[in-house]
This record gives sequence, structure tokens and C-alpha cells, in this order.
Amino acid sequence: MTTNDFLPINGTDYVEFYVGNAKQAAYFYQAAFGFQPLAYSGLETGNKEKTSYVVQQGKIRLVFTTSLEPDSEIAKHCNKHGDGVKVTALWVPDARKAYEETTKRGAKSYMQPQSFSDADGEVVCSGIYTYGETVHIFVERDNYKGPFLPGFVAWNPEFRSKEAGLLYIDHMVGNVGWGEMNTWAEFYNKVMGFTQLISFDDNDISTEYTALMSKVMANDNGRIKFPLNEPAHGKKKSQIEEYIDFYKGPGVQHLALATNNIVETVAELRKRGVEFLTVPQSYYDTVLERVGHIDEELKILQDLNILIDRDDEGYLLQIFSKPVEDRPTVFYEIIQRKGAKSFGKGNFKALFESIEREQERRGTL
Ligand code: FE2
Repeated sequence: MTTNDFLPINGTDYVEFYVGNAKQAAYFYQAAFGFQPLAYSGLETGNKEKTSYVVQQGKIRLVFTTSLEPDSEIAKHCNKHGDGVKVTALWVPDARKAYEETTKRGAKSYMQPQSFSDADGEVVCSGIYTYGETVHIFVERDNYKGPFLPGFVAWNPEFRSKEAGLLYIDHMVGNVGWGEMNTWAEFYNKVMGFTQLISFDDNDISTEYTALMSKVMANDNGRIKFPLNEPAHGKKKSQIEEYIDFYKGPGVQHLALATNNIVETVAELRKRGVEFLTVPQSYYDTVLERVGHIDEELKILQDLNILIDRDDEGYLLQIFSKPVEDRPTVFYEIIQRKGAKSFGKGNFKALFESIEREQERRGTL
């Protein structure tokens, strides 16, 4: 391991969405994805500006925040972008140092280091901007034992859904604007000390109509993986361009959530109304020639439309949801890794053709 990592990160702390209706968003993630209620902040806790619900499954913690005022930063964010990810919070051993090291390397400040405390202890937070209006908040919580953060109370509603086997965030993808991929790859490298794992260009990722370019940036211990996509010119509008048009700028495109049993997880999610992209059944006629032996029964994967890919280290199973809101922006990937450390390059073509069919229906291709 290198010892000169200037930004040690323990893992993802939480992902916060700014949404139009936090109560209903939280319910959707509970009912459809099996998240469990964790914490709440709102009028009843003395918070007159905004309401936040926090849900958790495995190590994945999602926060849904809505504004109670029409002109707040949150309300403006929702008005412009629709529901979307505002914050990717990183759990760090030292939030003051994280702020100092990144801002001195050129990061734009979002929040100066600040200490928050209540009866359960102290949390230090600081924050910097990344692409678009998205921010990273550094959270130092070694001296805190409350349910989430100071200002939040435990949330114990009567309704509990069954978990769906989701364990942790495998990676989180950002869509950046035309010609901006290298700028942001460099930002993660220079400002945050990440290194590049893989890159794809339009020779790897193109169909008859659409293209994109992608670089995967990872932190020192590999727990944080941020692929970055940039649109590339194709015959028609790419899904990245469609995202940027509807999100009105760069933003988080998808969160990949890991499971140890994708068959059970996806069967459960489908039953609860999560909608997934489908590939033609012909995909399964030839997939084993490409990926070789797999432990799972192909028929079961085919019935659930789960995709398979292999690299030098093993294979992976993955599936992609349709956008989870009205604008075609944020979606989810469910992934089970069986040795493979890559991102499913072998599935890009089938997948993009599937997305194009959806774009066609939306009139945005
Ligand atoms: Fe992904």
C-alpha cells in the first residue's frame, strides 16, 4: 500500500438526493428496494427549512431531502435538475485535513470544516464541489454514536419492508459534459489522489447510433470507484446527452448496488415494481460462448434478464433499471461480482441498444 495517500477514505458515508417530496421518495426506496428506515429530520425536530429521511440497507445509506421553502438552494436544485443526487458523502478519518488537502490542490469549497454535536457526540463535516452542482461532503464520525448525524432522530415508522439483499455501493457513475471527461478525471487524480483504473472510448462503447467515452477513477483502497462518462458523437443522440439535456448539466447517472445473490435480489425487486431494461432473448443464445462456464443456471438468468460478462479475474452478473423518476436521468445497476473487477464492457452493446429502444419511445433518440 502507498503511504502517501493524502486523502484516506474509509468508504461511502451516504448519498443525498434533493427531491420534490422526501416522504414519498423514502417510501419508494423502502417499498421497492427494501431499504430500512434509519433517521429523520424535519419540523418535529426543529428543522424549519427542510425535511430529510434517511434509509439504509447493508452499508448503503441514502438520504432524501426536500425544501420547505420555495427559494432555497434545495428548491432551486430540484426545479432545475429534477430529483437527483446532490451529495456523495465520503467517510474520512479527518474531515479538516480532507478539506485542506483538496482545496489546496484546487477544489472549489462547498462547506468549510464545521463541527456538529448533540447528546450522541460530535461529527465534523466539510465539503467540496465536483462536476456540475454535485458535491462531496467529507464526514468524520469516530466520536459519534447517534443514528445518523447531529440534528437527526431515529426514525421508527410502523411500515417495514423486507430487505432485498443489497449490500454496498460498488461504484457511482457521473455524466459530464462534452469534452469534460479528462478535466474531471484529472480533478479526481490531482485534487483527490485517485488513479485511473480503466478507460473506454467510442470504439468500445458504440452502437449504430450512439457513443460515449468513459474513464474509471478509484481511490487508494479501491472502496470508492467513480466512472465518468462523456458523450461522444454518434448518428443520433446518446444516452449521456439525453441525461445532460434533462438534468440540465452534469450529474450522477447511476449507482451500482452490490448483492451476493443477484437472482434473489432481482426477482424480489421485480416483484415490488422496480423496472429493468431488457435485452433480446437472442443475447442468451451466444452469451456462454463469450463468458464460458458460470455457476448459475442460464435459464434463470435469462428469465430475469440478468447480463453476464467476464474479465481476466472472473465474471460478473449485472442488470440495469430504467430511470427511477420522470426525467430520464438517475437509474440503478444491481451487480454481483464473482471475481471480475471490471464493469461489464461485454454487455455495453446489448445494453445501449436496449437504452436506445427506450429513448425511441421517449422521442429523445
Ligand atoms: Fe455501472
